[in-house]
Amino acid sequence: MQINSVMSSIRIPEISYKNKIRTLLIICLIILINFIGSAQNINKTRCSISKQEALLKKKNPYRSSEIQEFKKLIDNWVKNEYDSASRSSITIPVVVHLLYNTESQNITDQQILSQIKALNQDFSRTNPDTADTPKDFLSVAGNSNIQFCLVTKDPSGNKTNGIIRKKTSKTDFTDEDDAIKFTAKGGDDSWPTTQYFNIWVCDLGDDILGYGEFPTSMATNTYGLVVNYRSFGTLGKVLAPYDKGRTSTHEVGHCLNLYHIWGDEPDCDQDDEIDDTPLQKSENKGCPVYPQKADSGGSCEAAGPSSMYMNYMDYTNDECMNMFSKQQVSRMLAVLNVKPYNALKSSNKCGGINSIDDFTDAITTQKDVSFKLYPNPGKGELNISFNSKTACNITMTIFDIIGNKLSSDSYKNLENNSKLRLPNLTTGVYFFEIDCDGKKQIERIIINN
Ligand code: ARG
Ligand code: ZN
Ligand code: CA
Repeated sequence: MQINSVMSSIRIPEISYKNKIRTLLIICLIILINFIGSAQNINKTRCSISKQEALLKKKNPYRSSEIQEFKKLIDNWVKNEYDSASRSSITIPVVVHLLYNTESQNITDQQILSQIKALNQDFSRTNPDTADTPKDFLSVAGNSNIQFCLVTKDPSGNKTNGIIRKKTSKTDFTDEDDAIKFTAKGGDDSWPTTQYFNIWVCDLGDDILGYGEFPTSMATNTYGLVVNYRSFGTLGKVLAPYDKGRTSTHEVGHCLNLYHIWGDEPDCDQDDEIDDTPLQKSENKGCPVYPQKADSGGSCEAAGPSSMYMNYMDYTNDECMNMFSKQQVSRMLAVLNVKPYNALKSSNKCGGINSIDDFTDAITTQKDVSFKLYPNPGKGELNISFNSKTACNITMTIFDIIGNKLSSDSYKNLENNSKLRLPNLTTGVYFFEIDCDGKKQIERIIINN
């Protein structure tokens, strides 16, 4: 837990030098005690984001000041612009990089989609368990109206279903480095992080659920989240008690500038810089019973009726989490409204893929576009149909029976069942090559003029 010193240096820059030394000493002591006391006790919900943060700072000496700069922008936005900002939904374009070594790690599209669905529910407060939010906290429960979609355009403008599957020789990844985010290290390079929200899924071993990266005023090529394939989504390979997709909800929270609800210090003073989440001594685990005031990990004296252990930014089990607070929401929205990640909301990479049906359709389109030209035999003009809902950029090249190219015409954004005008052709057999966004097919057509 050099973690704690990292977190506090992010958050209390005003602290005096003397205090810093004292805090440092106390932290060292805590580390020592923890180390001796629980060297054996590997904890599944251990915080790896702070480790990441330390790593990033080591790589980039300016990161601390970039964080400070960013915080000023965020605070300003929350203070001056939040009230008048639009409440309409913001859609975040997502690309999923799935790295697998064994087939079992190669989770299905359905599992990935179940995660997108869970995120959409949690971030719009339409999750099936909102009724579990205690009455005392209903007035501060927030709806961010943030939605997530799998992208349909890759950085070169080609069609994609938003899922990159890549076999890797690495049997698993760690939170010690960001290897998964680099092709050269056995992972997969991010797509431009102000245009795409990158989610990496892989085997992170048995004790790490995931980690996210905090935003700063300078976009990084590592921004996004990494999630263990066993805690990603709500079906398939997920393992209880982390099987409701809330590892991603929590990590997206970090990516949108939220801290752990207890403030990452095991005391009652350190907060998460959010007023409507009660002070809490340290993290909660498992599934507490309301009200939860117990001393270890409980709410601090006089801080409120209970700790907000059902907040996504605590460490409780997936099925016991069900809310963000209103102020957490305003802080997250701020990230999507100031530079550099405000670009995400206008990146326009999703092309209307919102439902599972659209998605299945997009997958079909990508994997095997097939065309039909009709009628055959035909004359003058032909109709084209293809098995995709989305329009296609089509190039139609006509060859005669011995392979001479006769003509080539392009049609932008051609809709299904459009008419194609033919050049003058004499009666005979021809080959029509149809290229739809790079997918080719050749049809033998008889022209009978
Ligand atoms: N270990 C992770 C982190 O600190 C997240 C824990 C998520 N909790 C959960 N119930 N899924 O970033
Ligand atoms: Zn966390
Ligand atoms: Ca708080």
